[in-house]
Amino acid sequence: MTNKPVYILAIESSCDDTAAAILQNDKVLSNIVANQLIHNQYGGVVPELASRAHQQNIVPVIDAAFRKANIQKEQLTAIAFTQGPGLMGSLLVGSSFAKSLSLALNIPLIAVNHMQAHILAHFIDEEGHQKPEFPFLALTISGGHTQIVKVTNYFDMEIIGETTDDAVGEAFDKSAKIVGLPYPGGPLVDKNAQLGNPKAFAFTKPKVPGLDFSFSGLKTAILYFIQKNVAENPNFIEENLNDICASIQYTIIEILMDKMKLAVKQTGINRIAIGGGVSANSGIRNAMKEAQTKYGWQTYIPKFEYTTDNAAMIGIVGYQKYLQGNFETSNVVSKARIQF
Ligand code: KG4
Ligand code: ZN
Repeated sequence: MTNKPVYILAIESSCDDTAAAILQNDKVLSNIVANQLIHNQYGGVVPELASRAHQQNIVPVIDAAFRKANIQKEQLTAIAFTQGPGLMGSLLVGSSFAKSLSLALNIPLIAVNHMQAHILAHFIDEEGHQKPEFPFLALTISGGHTQIVKVTNYFDMEIIGETTDDAVGEAFDKSAKIVGLPYPGGPLVDKNAQLGNPKAFAFTKPKVPGLDFSFSGLKTAILYFIQKNVAENPNFIEENLNDICASIQYTIIEILMDKMKLAVKQTGINRIAIGGGVSANSGIRNAMKEAQTKYGWQTYIPKFEYTTDNAAMIGIVGYQKYLQGNFETSNVVSKARIQF
């Protein structure tokens, strides 16, 4: 192989963030994300509005990625895009753009699985970040997924546990909604939790066998708890918001950590990497750091900008697939649901 640098443009448009990144090999030259604020007023992502916003954002976002990276489109080696999982209308905006540009420039087109990308984001070359050694366990926690994945190699992944109902991000967002916080409530629960007592209120943890998760019961328990207390004291939420958030966050983290302890026991693997939007949470980050001394685990925590949806993570998978010569024709289809 030659030592000529590989330049990859990566496009991510699976949900409500329009993102583009340019990588030089495994280094990120630019990583641009346009958040779609339009959904906040609806309390959740509206698919039709999301695809329309992607159409408006995609050209300026890609343009910004080129300017920040300071390269020309003629220098690109390949184009990577998110094939799925995600909202079909949103995925199509990114894939159509990627296909057209790869045809126009006559360079390879690479399809990327969004959930694999959340895991492989750990292989972005960043100062101060150690790449995990194979095999390791990935805990992918986002608005759409909650999975424990056994990662044997870049593309050899096995889901060994997952949610049977809500994703952990949904648990955060729905709990936040119950206490009157705007969408997406996860980061706001986190912010308030930092000022509260995590043991102020106790919520029952679900009893799910094996490595699977369930979060819908917790949401109902929080709803009943709030309704009961607000009936007794209409100012209950305002007076206790920090403690409520801290207690919700504490319970969710306990649920995640209990399952990871079981996963380590079952697999004998004690290298743990977290990924996905919820891995931005300060509580889970601290719990993972503490686990190093508490349980002797080797834990890997991504840089903030690679936790929530971004295109740099799509680019690093694109780079690995480029090295393997794993390319697509423009007949490749987007997939709302996709396994590894
Ligand atoms: O990975 P992501 O950006 O999009 C999906 O693929 O779903 O994850 C978004 C989710 C949302 O549910 C959001 O509330 C949650 O990640 N999130 C957080 C935090 N930052 C983002 N949840 C808790 N604490 C945070 N700091
Ligand atoms: Zn995601």
